[in-house]
Amino acid sequence: MAKRTTTEIKGQGARVLEKDLNRELANLNVLFIKLHNYHWFVKGPNFFSLHQKFEELYNKTQGFIDDYAEQMLAIKVQPLATMKDYLSVATIDEATGTEDKDEMVETLTADLEALSSQLLELVENLEDNKALSLADAVQDIARDYQQDAWMLRAYSGKE
Ligand SMILES: [Fe+2]
Repeated sequence: MAKRTTTEIKGQGARVLEKDLNRELANLNVLFIKLHNYHWFVKGPNFFSLHQKFEELYNKTQGFIDDYAEQMLAIKVQPLATMKDYLSVATIDEATGTEDKDEMVETLTADLEALSSQLLELVENLEDNKALSLADAVQDIARDYQQDAWMLRAYSGKE
């Protein structure tokens, strides 16, 4: 399928989109740090598999963050770029530092489910504003995290 393109978004639609895009960029950044926290502090008999899975997820998230922010710049929407700003608008909570391995998996499952459904809402908003290339990129991220959420539920025996 041919890649869809986006032109600069102007007016009221641009302001609403900027807020929504930055909230999800903030969520991706909070998730990125949270995955490191869990990667470093996970303990127990599943250490090797979870340690590796969390690394795989933060590496993937890092790629999403860079591509997403650069696509925002391409349509002249300014991405937030400080931890202070991310924490002020993110809807995903940071790690508490007290989670055991089961709570880590449970929390990440909920985060990835919430994030993917918010990203899918954003896709509709982007399509309404004809930001089609960005809509496609965001949809790919949502699809990827939906699959990760399913794998984590399967890991927990909840599927
Ligand atoms: Fe590591």
